[in-house]
Amino acid sequence: MHSANGTAPGASPSVGSTAPRKRINAHVTGWGRYVPAQILSNKDLERMVDTSDEWIVSRTGISERRVAAAHETTASMGSVAALRAIHAAGIDPDEIDLILLATLTPDYWMPSTAALVKEAIGNTRAAAMDVAAACSGFVYGFATAQAWIESGLAKHVLVIGAELLTRFLDYTDRGTCILFGDGAGAAVLSASEEPGGSLAIELTTEPQGAYMIWLPAGGAKSPPSAETIARGEHFIRMEGKETYRFATRTLASTALESVRKAGLEPDDISLFIPHQANIRIIEAVAKGLDLPMDRMYTNVDRYGNTSAASVPIAMAEAVNEGRVKAGDNITIVAFGAGFTSGAVTINWTADPARGRDADEAIRPQDVHVRLPVDWDSVDPIPPALAEIMARPGTVNPPLDDVVPGEPEPASHPVAR
Ligand code: COA
Repeated sequence: MHSANGTAPGASPSVGSTAPRKRINAHVTGWGRYVPAQILSNKDLERMVDTSDEWIVSRTGISERRVAAAHETTASMGSVAALRAIHAAGIDPDEIDLILLATLTPDYWMPSTAALVKEAIGNTRAAAMDVAAACSGFVYGFATAQAWIESGLAKHVLVIGAELLTRFLDYTDRGTCILFGDGAGAAVLSASEEPGGSLAIELTTEPQGAYMIWLPAGGAKSPPSAETIARGEHFIRMEGKETYRFATRTLASTALESVRKAGLEPDDISLFIPHQANIRIIEAVAKGLDLPMDRMYTNVDRYGNTSAASVPIAMAEAVNEGRVKAGDNITIVAFGAGFTSGAVTINWTADPARGRDADEAIRPQDVHVRLPVDWDSVDPIPPALAEIMARPGTVNPPLDDVVPGEPEPASHPVAR
């Protein structure tokens, strides 16, 4: 942050001025997403656990999900999505004042993944920190960005949701391993005195649900040990039914609260962009808001649940597919471990065309997250996935090509 007095860089200073300060609004000026090339289909999962394509599709709506290759990390995926969002915003990475990265799968406990992304995108001046609110993390980060901008603390804030969940799943637990996938999405919020932008926030946390979705070991309560690993406590655990009940109870009410705080009614919202956990949960939101399903954006069939990445991936795809136009009101809404939920209603003001060439302009092979010196990690691919991912022609690049801790070849052929 450069502004010692809390004034947004480039904004008129208010200290000492008698003129009333104009209201500053937080507009979405950039959006982008990145998903790894490797697809894990329901048929693949049939070979790993006692499940079926028919069961997964009918109970969740998921057909396939993405799996990060060995050289990819939460920071690398987040950096690609971030640069695409910055490209769409038409600003230089160094104009970003604050980087908020929402994740439950950081590259390391420390430093923050946001700090790694800051370096990778070539930003020298932003404050950078991670947001821990599980699947609601991007919405929580977005709301925080709005607050920083409206208060004059920042002019451009980069909010990222990035997850590498496939390395935290128990591929013997059919109740969880079928649900989750990897990916990243990002948005740039920018200060403007023009009307519109982010209108109203609703955030909730219900700690009585704290142990309904959790990752037991690895933290201070239960540091990692041979015993915690033997007990599988380094994998995500979930009470599916309780989580489902919470989601169907909370998502519509959280969205509605945000819409009403904006002085609007659900019918004024041209598109809801909900967390992509389960098509039946999204159908329940539509029902709760008394709206048809075509007012809900869905891509859960292609990516499964990507936790904090889910809403920004969906938002970027919805805009790039022409489902959002300048002047539209949209609502992003999510729920997740905690239990957390959050919604933001946004008056969209950006030209959707700005995001469409970002995939071409920002190539993953040109984005590098600096690796530690003198440290070789073990192969990060879970053994249960390794065989599937080693099939000829399905992984690009080969998984054993680059192991974190070694420099990446400059010409690494990563699919977009
Ligand atoms: N394949 C086949 N059968 C499965 C299965 C799978 N992958 N997972 C569970 N089953 C079985 C169960 O063992 C159970 O069998 P039983 O009747 O013989 O005991 C049966 O299917 C029904 O299981 P149930 O847990 O009641 O299914 P469900 O309809 O509740 O669907 C979820 C399970 C996980 C899909 C659903 O509860 C859900 O989506 N919950 C929310 C999860 C979520 O959103 N998490 C992320 C939050 S951010």
